[in-house]
Amino acid sequence: MRIAVTAESDKTETRVAATPETVKKFVGLGAEIAVQAGAGAASGFSDADYAAAGGKIGGSARETLTGAEVLLRVRRPAASDIAGAPQGLAVISMLDPFGHERELAELASAGVTAFAMELMPRITRAQSMDVLSSQANIAGYRAVIDGAAEYGRVLPMMMTPAGTVPAAKVFIMGVGVAGLQAIATARRLGAVVTATDVRPATKEQVESLGAKFVAVENEEFKQAETAGGYAKEMSPEYRAAQAELIGAHIAKQDIVITTALIPGRPAPKLISAAQLRAMKPGSVIVDLAAERGGNCESTKPGETAIVDGVKIVGAFNLAGRLAATASSLYAKNLLAFLETLVSKETKQLAINWDDELVKATCLIRDGAVIDPRFQPKA
Ligand code: NAI
Repeated sequence: MRIAVTAESDKTETRVAATPETVKKFVGLGAEIAVQAGAGAASGFSDADYAAAGGKIGGSARETLTGAEVLLRVRRPAASDIAGAPQGLAVISMLDPFGHERELAELASAGVTAFAMELMPRITRAQSMDVLSSQANIAGYRAVIDGAAEYGRVLPMMMTPAGTVPAAKVFIMGVGVAGLQAIATARRLGAVVTATDVRPATKEQVESLGAKFVAVENEEFKQAETAGGYAKEMSPEYRAAQAELIGAHIAKQDIVITTALIPGRPAPKLISAAQLRAMKPGSVIVDLAAERGGNCESTKPGETAIVDGVKIVGAFNLAGRLAATASSLYAKNLLAFLETLVSKETKQLAINWDDELVKATCLIRDGAVIDPRFQPKA
């Protein structure tokens, strides 16, 4: 089996889909692996590191893809990125499929098979392949670090001869993987932490991390979790009650970190412009949902803005700002998944099309988009 790792075409993407550590493992599994020159540079992995691990260095994407059966990527390649690749190439990547039917159709036209890592089922067997979790964990940590860096005061309580400084109040909105890591990180930095979510299961998780849970806990709240563990879109009545409770709470906060998402939908708006005006000048919002429109009405996606005296961080790809760690975990997610696609006896690609992991993630098979959710609309 021959695996290729090409450089990301989006120049803002700092992560890479294989590390010297995973290259070594692939070689140990009997695979040949080619890495495009410079592919790991933004994550701090040099061509020499990949070569020392047993990888071959390809001068260009085309050269790297010569003879490849599998392509590992962070983001969905364009058809032009895989020009000259063998027919039937298996692309394993985050495909960002929702709302990108046209781009998927274009990728399919290159004759590939493609797997979307972010659609990996959240079952015990696939935990080691869960890219949403591995990347959200890093993003949640980084959100607190960024928030603390933008805030003009310290986070822990400090008793000094010159006077006592109170601990900062940090509020986390949305307690999935990123939110839980944000709570833990803010607590380690000594902040007083509160958190909210619409899924009742999160209350205990928040409290077990030493933070206080704040939410409208009515009948709708008790039903707000889908069988898959995700949040449902809440009714206008619930959102109004939530807005009232949260509005009063955030007016007293120093740093607010928002992470609320609903799969395949725009991010729910949790902080209105009016609520923002009630916040203290100098306070900070880090909006991890910025890429999906933002949880705060005033977020400028991709930018840091000061609105009514509040600094709002709307940066994209927070995991990519800790590229070495994020790449290490992402690359291991890919390794774990690819191991399931390879025959232990022949060491060749042997995809079991009945495997639930394959069924859930394979969006393109032999040049055709097979998942009806992402087929081009007539
Ligand atoms: P996510 O990124 O889809 O959403 C982040 C959080 O925002 C969620 O906790 C969601 O409930 C919350 N949210 C949505 N609308 C909201 C609103 N209006 N107000 C407040 N909060 C709102 O979530 P993530 O991190 O992908 O986790 C989703 C679920 O998957 C969780 O139950 C998590 O425990 C579960 N999970 C399971 C895994 C496994 O079993 N292998 C691994 C990772 C996560």
